[in-house]
Amino acid sequence: MRLMILGCPGAGKGTQSQFIASDYAIPSISTGEMLRQAVTAGSELGQKAKSIMQAGQLVPDDLIIALVKVRIAQADCAKGFILDGFPRTLPQAQALIDAKIALDVVLELSLDDEEIVHRMTGRLVHPASGRVYHRDFNPPKQANVDDLTGEPLIQREDDQESTVRHRIEVYHAQTKPLIDFYQHFPVDAGLPAPQFYRVSGLGTVEEVAARVRASLKNRG
Ligand code: AP5
Ligand code: MG
Repeated sequence: MRLMILGCPGAGKGTQSQFIASDYAIPSISTGEMLRQAVTAGSELGQKAKSIMQAGQLVPDDLIIALVKVRIAQADCAKGFILDGFPRTLPQAQALIDAKIALDVVLELSLDDEEIVHRMTGRLVHPASGRVYHRDFNPPKQANVDDLTGEPLIQREDDQESTVRHRIEVYHAQTKPLIDFYQHFPVDAGLPAPQFYRVSGLGTVEEVAARVRASLKNRG
């Protein structure tokens, strides 16, 4: 299954991708995680992306498209993959079509803007794996420590409230048009249209996961 998970910052894309990846034994590819790892490594890409991400803006399409193409050509993606955070603009969606990469499912996690800020400011991340926790809603077994490795958890630099608000604006302006794009997938794309599902991101992590599972199970 080739699935794309779409939704505003903090909708729970990373959290739900972890469950889908484990259910279907396919890798979850988060462009945000890949960029954060590049920033930590200090690579050329990381140096270009650092200040853009801190400001809550989008990294240029050409850089991201190249990154994703290399990643999904790797052997572990042969049986399928989850794209978390890509495509995020219409040119990125077009680049997938141009590369003849068809998606089977586009899953939108919907959530109101007000709910988002609270989720983001309590988020904790394990930098090496990208595993996501929340201080109150999805706490690690031991405070500030990753469940699997015992390594320390950190807060993301772009999770300050003012940056979160800007990321939400960027989502509405640049990423939300993809909902309409995938619901009315162009007939001249030369690829089958993906199935589109909208799942509410409200409720507990487990409630959302159950909704996601039910949608994916019912697909024809
Ligand atoms: P990215 O890392 O993709 O950030 P994002 O889209 O803003 O989304 P988040 O990761 O913040 O949220 P999420 O939906 O994954 O939520 P999560 O599961 O963590 O991108 C970061 C930056 O990289 C971008 O701003 C941009 O600069 C750049 N970038 C990345 N991709 C790009 C692209 N394609 N093009 C250009 N630039 C790109 O959940 C959030 C919190 O809520 C967690 O603490 C979690 O534990 C908690 N939580 C989750 N579900 C629930 C629930 N049901 N109830 C309560 N709490 C919950
Ligand atoms: Mg994420």
